[in-house]
Amino acid sequence: MSKITIANTYEDFIKGFHPKSGLDLKFYKQNQMQRRILSFMNSHGHATFPEFLNALNVDSVLYDAFFKHLTINVSQFFRDANQWKTLRESIIPLLLQSKSPLKLWSAGCSSGQEPYSLAMTLMEYFPTAKFSILATDIDVNVLKQAKEGFYKQNDFASTPPEFLQKYFTPTDKGHQIKDSVQRNVTFQHQNLLTDHFQTGLDFIACRNVVIYFTEEAKEMLYKKFTDSLRPGGILFTGSTEHLFGLGHLGLKPVSSFFYQKQ
Ligand SMILES: C[S@@+](CC[C@H](N)C(=O)[O-])C[C@H]1O[C@@H](n2cnc3c(N)ncnc32)[C@H](O)[C@@H]1O
Repeated sequence: MSKITIANTYEDFIKGFHPKSGLDLKFYKQNQMQRRILSFMNSHGHATFPEFLNALNVDSVLYDAFFKHLTINVSQFFRDANQWKTLRESIIPLLLQSKSPLKLWSAGCSSGQEPYSLAMTLMEYFPTAKFSILATDIDVNVLKQAKEGFYKQNDFASTPPEFLQKYFTPTDKGHQIKDSVQRNVTFQHQNLLTDHFQTGLDFIACRNVVIYFTEEAKEMLYKKFTDSLRPGGILFTGSTEHLFGLGHLGLKPVSSFFYQKQ
């Protein structure tokens, strides 16, 4: 990893932080990001950008905590239960009409709750369906947690109790996802803003990831998602993420938060 360079302003800070982290904060809304960075600096006793960058260079625990603070990893199994109902009642049947095996992608998967929810949905309601799930995130720590697969009670607030019994094993470290679910999911490190995407995908879930992206970054990302889907493929967004004004990309709403490539 390269060393962070000294910075006096927010612009210097994001320039200095980029080579070390791979995270280019110019794609994120400045007001919100700057506020998050300053609140982290205050709570950890750092008063200026240069001194804080220096501390990030030498303290890997601080660096990891800061990266986690910036990327906001909050997730849950079956987050927004109504949308998962639409997914299993309408969207997956629609996709299976025209293609098998299905290729699904959870983009910004955090510690695995979303891709494992996809796997459990397919296993439970479409037991004969063939499918594979790619799950990606920019944060290597959440990917590690996803592969270990241990979860706490608050991850299950929207999970039907029978799923907990069927697809998890209770352990001292929390409930662990079973191998039968895990083997359907491949985790990979990826930066959505700079890396290449696979093509020919049937389904992409990208939820609660773009919240701090600039409008330009969002449009660029939704264009890349559209190119990545096969015609008829579906993009699933978060419950505050409407693709207003992006009709030119060739994504048509088929239900709230589900968009189909034309
Ligand atoms: C709030 S979590 C959402 C998790 C899950 N999709 C959900 O809705 O519950 C946002 C995730 O997006 C990831 N993320 C943020 N910027 C990213 C980027 N540029 N490339 C890939 N992942 C990113 C974060 O690391 C974090 O794990």
